[in-house]
Amino acid sequence: MPLVKVASRAMLERFGLTEHLMGDDRVAICRVGTEIHAVDGLCPHRGGPLAQGALHGRMLVCPWHAWEFDCVTGESDFLPAAKLKTYPVTVDGDDVLIEIE
Ligand code: FES
Repeated sequence: MPLVKVASRAMLERFGLTEHLMGDDRVAICRVGTEIHAVDGLCPHRGGPLAQGALHGRMLVCPWHAWEFDCVTGESDFLPAAKLKTYPVTVDGDDVLIEIE
């Protein structure tokens, strides 16, 4: 599967959370301690931009109605069926890359 650069590791170390646009899709990239994870960036509730919300530990909080998602597993604490897709992440120097289909 192709790898796509979605973020800079230095930027994630500074801000902890960012997003990458891929056409109509968004990916939220989160730093949890020393690990970097990537999940779908559109909230399954009503399409809120998750990376414009807040990151509390490993929980990503949607800015629109505050649903929370685990950015490691993609799981929602509110509605188990609303699980986010997760993407495998590779770090190469300062480049943060994800595998896309
Ligand atoms: S759009 Fe995300 S919680 Fe409603």
